[in-house]
Amino acid sequence: MSGKYFQVHYGAVNRGGKKKAMNQREKELCSHSEEETRRLGEIIGKNLVRGDLVALIGDLGSGKTCLTKGLAKSLGVSDEYEITSPTFTIINEYPGRFPLWHVDAYRLENSREMMDAGFEDFFNGGGVVVIEWAEKIRDILPKETLFVLFEYMDETTRIIRLSGREAVVHRILTEYQHQ
Ligand SMILES: Nc1ncnc2c1ncn2[C@@H]1O[C@H](COP(=O)(O)OP(=O)(O)OP(=O)(O)O)[C@@H](O)[C@H]1O
Ligand SMILES: [Mg+2]
Repeated sequence: MSGKYFQVHYGAVNRGGKKKAMNQREKELCSHSEEETRRLGEIIGKNLVRGDLVALIGDLGSGKTCLTKGLAKSLGVSDEYEITSPTFTIINEYPGRFPLWHVDAYRLENSREMMDAGFEDFFNGGGVVVIEWAEKIRDILPKETLFVLFEYMDETTRIIRLSGREAVVHRILTEYQHQ
């Protein structure tokens, strides 16, 4: 699939399985620098499996793309690709351990536009979907989605709230706090 909304950065992809919903849990942490947010992204990436969705919610410049860079790194996306918010397309696709679909919903009016761009295909996809401005399409996100909420405190400090499957949130937090 390719077209107006969708930019493919490489060739064929595999389609994989789904997972069941589990207990939900919300947890809060603090990032004091861009590096810490990237590292959190790396930890999140390590804990993802095919078919997972990560919804990023936060103001302009709060760190959504920064976290996505770390996530892409741990998913094995090559440094050759510069991860930026998909400005001219809504979805960028990158090759890694499995495909990474990076979505920017900022300019969408509603979730219907996202569906028109072929988003439904990703729910059953063989990769990981990361969505900036995910609140725009909240009504079509599966309940297993891992939510990451960014709150801008000052120039270098962000409060970051994770909510999703309890076991996953717990693992991510434990790893973040023990390094
Ligand atoms: N603790 C921090 N975590 C993340 N970014 C930080 C932090 N401290 C400072 N920054 C800076 O904040 C900016 C975050 O930019 P980023 O592109 O990740 O934001 P964004 O949420 O994707 O914005 P947009 O909605 O415009 O796409 C960067 O310039 C980064 O250097
Ligand atoms: Mg961004």
